[in-house]
Amino acid sequence: MIRISALAASVKPSATLAAGAKARQLRASGVQVFDFSLGEPDFDTPAHIRAAADRAVAAGQTHYTPVTGTPEVKAAICRWYKGYHGYEVAPENVIVSNGAKHSLHNVLAATVGPGDEVVIPTPYWVSYSDLVSMTGAAPVLVHTTPESGFKLTPAQLRAAVTPKTRVLMLNSPCNPTGTVYTRAELEALADTLVDHSDAALLSDEIYEQLTYGDAKPTCVATLRPGLRDRTVTVSGASKSYAMTGWRMGWAVAPAALVKAMDAIQSQETSCPSSVSQAALVAALDGPQDCVAAMRAEFAARRELTCGLLRAIPGLKLPVPDGAFYAFFDVSAYFGKAFAGKPVGDSLGFCSALLEQAHVNLIPGSAFGTEGFVRMSFACSPDTICGGLAKLADWLATGR
Ligand SMILES: Cc1ncc(COP(=O)(O)O)c(C=O)c1O
Repeated sequence: MIRISALAASVKPSATLAAGAKARQLRASGVQVFDFSLGEPDFDTPAHIRAAADRAVAAGQTHYTPVTGTPEVKAAICRWYKGYHGYEVAPENVIVSNGAKHSLHNVLAATVGPGDEVVIPTPYWVSYSDLVSMTGAAPVLVHTTPESGFKLTPAQLRAAVTPKTRVLMLNSPCNPTGTVYTRAELEALADTLVDHSDAALLSDEIYEQLTYGDAKPTCVATLRPGLRDRTVTVSGASKSYAMTGWRMGWAVAPAALVKAMDAIQSQETSCPSSVSQAALVAALDGPQDCVAAMRAEFAARRELTCGLLRAIPGLKLPVPDGAFYAFFDVSAYFGKAFAGKPVGDSLGFCSALLEQAHVNLIPGSAFGTEGFVRMSFACSPDTICGGLAKLADWLATGR
């Protein structure tokens, strides 16, 4: 018998990936499943990006690269920040990794450990709490509510900060709520953090190119002069460029921290994929109309999703201003039974819904918030219409 380590025993598998696997299993047995579980664009990676990868392979770019990424990809990231956010970044501030999830892991591994605290507003993206726990540090969850638009307030932050606080994790636009903080709200949080602690700000901005209506993304590091010295910006290509499988994420950080992450990454994975880095250069430097087209499509699906959900009695839906998720309150249905099966929480709700109506949503408890469920609308309008019709019919059977 091979013994499993305490670390492995303590880690929960990603709830969203597990839900996706369950839906695939059902589908393989011939059932039509409406799967809204995965945070993955249904578009193909744009052709010019795939062509750049083909060219890289043909040119023999199939070897190890420098640990933190090729000079070309780091230069492209620097150009992109200057163009998109007016943020002047030097190559020594950039480290490219195998997806933004890996970047987050590197940042946490390089900044926190046992005895440290990391403040995470809830609802949070499923992996945050486990990524923190894997370092031995303690996640400090601060509960936000629909009344505040699921936004952390300066007063809540002040109350959560202790001498052990090392990092505040922020995510705007947010997965799962779609919340987008305004620049002024982020300034108030940054000022509170600076006034009350010497903690770093870890800002996950992976949905920055996906905001709707009047909502605007903000690059937190640019909020105040000097803030960049204690801010790490994480982003990636998965969501904006439909590049989930290429595994391209990055962190922008003070050079000393990049050096620390360089050492960790050199021992863990050597470098990110050479071919994917060539594709990322094409994504960031190439025509951006593909991003605009995908954003427009997501915006239309958001309208469709919100309209259909609002028409279902008992559901409460805060408007998502960014990303591609609807996070809605289903607690009015708790205490009812569906096909004789009582439902008392978001996990029970999602299990019964998948089993009985073959609609796959993620329980709010996976994001640290009970009473809600998350639906990804990064899928076809037909799937949205079909799945939400099934959801409405199923809810009506609750007794
Ligand atoms: C908020 C957030 N951060 C990071 C990631 C990780 O993205 P990737 O590892 O594909 O770059 C995701 C993916 O779902 C996400 O929703």
